[in-house]
Amino acid sequence: MSALHPIAIIGTGIAGLSAAQLLHEAGHPVQLFDKSRGSGGRMSSKRSDAGALDLGAQYFTARDRRFVDVVQQWRARGWVAEWTPSLYTFKNGQLSASPDEQARWVGSPRMSAITRAMLGALPVHFSCRITEVFRGEHNWHLQDAEGNSHGPFSHVIVATPAPQATTLLSSVPKLASAAASVSMDPTWAVALAFASPLDSPVEGCFVHDSPLDWLARNRSKPGRDTHLDTWVLHATSQWTKQHVDMPKEAVIEHLFGAFAELIGCAVPAPVFSLAHRWLYARPASAHQWGILADADQGIYACGDWCLSGRAEGAWLSGHEAARRLLAHLQ
Ligand code: FAD
Ligand code: NAI
Repeated sequence: MSALHPIAIIGTGIAGLSAAQLLHEAGHPVQLFDKSRGSGGRMSSKRSDAGALDLGAQYFTARDRRFVDVVQQWRARGWVAEWTPSLYTFKNGQLSASPDEQARWVGSPRMSAITRAMLGALPVHFSCRITEVFRGEHNWHLQDAEGNSHGPFSHVIVATPAPQATTLLSSVPKLASAAASVSMDPTWAVALAFASPLDSPVEGCFVHDSPLDWLARNRSKPGRDTHLDTWVLHATSQWTKQHVDMPKEAVIEHLFGAFAELIGCAVPAPVFSLAHRWLYARPASAHQWGILADADQGIYACGDWCLSGRAEGAWLSGHEAARRLLAHLQ
């Protein structure tokens, strides 16, 4: 296998970028690909008339020592800040304060700041959906949805959600069937913005017995735009699965109703609303694989679905893919 060629990384979420950073630091050229217009995947933020909105990952915790250290570096560089919301739970029709000691982190001034900074000046093709990954005599090649070929590459790291990885791993059936065994549940996200602040102390809420399972108040996060009082609501996986094809307007109406019912104050009509459907939001069950790999062939798969289904698991999985690739080169 030639070390002269770059390493292809498909996916610029936190897993792909964690792998890219370690390989780049070790002196190996990388080439990234993403079907979206920017980096971040489920940790991206959407620009809107109500400011930047974190519609996917809301915050993250750091429990593994390696990730704790990295988050401290990110904090020192100003990429992340601690979020200390007034936390509530909604259970049995009751809204109650639910403070705790857990450190929670957010990208600053928006969630996408992290992956944008991690990407830095690394070479990347955006709006480039890879449809096929195949091996030539000595190297790997990629095909995109426009019919363009990319390569040769010495190695490939697939850092997409499991259903998309299944297709991209088809030349290594053992890895493809492991990825195919992971199903991922969808999440409807809705953002609502109000012209004047709601008369509520809630800044984050874990919700039970409702179509919603989470809500967050954007202005309570560090560095956010505060000209409107903007909230992000997440539906449960179960509700989302039952309403996965519902038109966005109807999703907004239903989730706005659930929000108004639980928030415990008068709620006027929002001046701005949007809905976003995450089809592959979270793995339906937990795996502790770390990564999937065929090191002899030079192909690796990583992502949150290989570990905890959280930002931390995604970062650790990407880091492990790069570490294992480097170990195999020695
Ligand atoms: P992704 O972020 O999904 O990145 C994969 C990338 O691959 C994407 O950019 C995608 O565009 C690209 N891609 C896919 N297929 C192709 C292809 N064929 N060709 C090219 N590119 C492709 N985690 C927490 O820790 N805390 C939370 O509060 C939290 N809340 C969440 C709320 C929601 C609604 C969602 C959806 C997720 C949440 N998560 C949370 C989970 C967290 O966002 C993920 O664990 C993490 O971002 C996954 O990173 P990843 O790199 O594995 O995958
Ligand atoms: P965490 O430690 O804050 O929360 C883990 C879980 O513990 C919460 O889901 C909640 O049920 C409970 N919890 C924590 N603090 C609480 C409090 N003060 N009061 C009441 N309950 C509390 O964060 P962690 O472990 O990093 O988890 C990440 C979060 O991301 C989880 O809430 C998870 O559900 C969410 N997530 C959502 C996804 C989606 O698609 N909607 C996808 C992946 C993660």
